[in-house]
Amino acid sequence: MTQQLNIGILGAGRVGTAVGRQAVRAGHTVRIATGKPAEDIKLLTEVIVPGAQAVNKEDLRGSDIIVLAVPLHKYRSIDTSVLQGHPVIDTMNYWAPVDGVMEEFETGSSTSEVINEFLGDVELVKTLNHIGYGDLEVDSHPAGDPQRRALAVASDHEDAKQLVAAFVDTLGYDAVDAGPLAAGKTFENGTEIFNGRHSAEQMRALLDQCQNVLAEV
Ligand SMILES: NC(=O)c1ccc[n+]([C@@H]2O[C@H](COP(=O)([O-])OP(=O)(O)OC[C@H]3O[C@@H](n4cnc5c(N)ncnc54)[C@H](OP(=O)(O)O)[C@@H]3O)[C@@H](O)[C@H]2O)c1
Repeated sequence: MTQQLNIGILGAGRVGTAVGRQAVRAGHTVRIATGKPAEDIKLLTEVIVPGAQAVNKEDLRGSDIIVLAVPLHKYRSIDTSVLQGHPVIDTMNYWAPVDGVMEEFETGSSTSEVINEFLGDVELVKTLNHIGYGDLEVDSHPAGDPQRRALAVASDHEDAKQLVAAFVDTLGYDAVDAGPLAAGKTFENGTEIFNGRHSAEQMRALLDQCQNVLAEV
C-alpha cells in the first residue's frame, strides 16, 4: 500500500496548486503556504486545491516533504528556517527572460546546486520542474499504463530521493533516478528532457547520453 505523506508546499501559484491537487488526489495530506499569512490564501486554497489546508509557512515544519514552488528570481526571499532538516523538492527553473539575468545561474553549475547552498541543511531533490503545471494532472497515469510518463529525480541524499520518487509515483509518474543533484542540469530548461514527454525507458536512455556527454567535458 502506498504511504500517505504529509506534503508541505511553499508557493501557491500555478505549480504549487497543481502539485497540491495531484497530491490530494493521491491521498496525501497537503498544506500550502506562501510568505503571507494563511488567511490570505485560505479562499484560493479552498477553491483551487480542495482538500488542502492553507497554513502559515512556519506550519510546514514537520512535513515529510516540502515542495518549493516559488519563482526562482525570488529564492533569496524564502524563509529558509522553515525548511531546515526536511526533504525539499526544487521545482524551480531559471529562465533569464522571466527571471532576469542572475549571475549565480550563469556559471555552468546546476541551478539546484546554487539553491542547495542557499537553503542550508535540507535534503534537496530536483524534480517536477520539467512538466508543465497544466500537464501534471492530464499526463498522470497509473503504474503500468503504456502511456505513463517518466520524471527524472536528482539528489545527493539517497533516502530523500527514494521518498520523493515514491511521492512522484503516487502522482502518476515513473520516477527515474538521474543521479546526484548536479545531474539536475540534464533536465533543466532548454534540454531535450525538459522539452519532451518521455517513458521511463526513453528517460533512462536520455540520462545515460547526458551523463556520457558530461563525463567527456
Ligand atoms: N509554469 C510551469 O509550468 C512550471 C512547471 C514546473 C516548474 N516551474 C517552476 O516553478 C516555479 C514556480 O512557478 P509558478 O508558475 O508556480 O509561479 P507563480 O504562479 O508566480 O507562483 C509563485 C508562488 O510563490 C509565492 N512566493 C513568492 N515568493 C515567496 C516566498 N519568498 N516565500 C513563499 N512563497 C513565495 C507566491 O506568493 P505571492 O503571490 O504571495 O508572492 C506565489 O504563490 C518557478 O521557478 C517555475 O520556473 C514552472
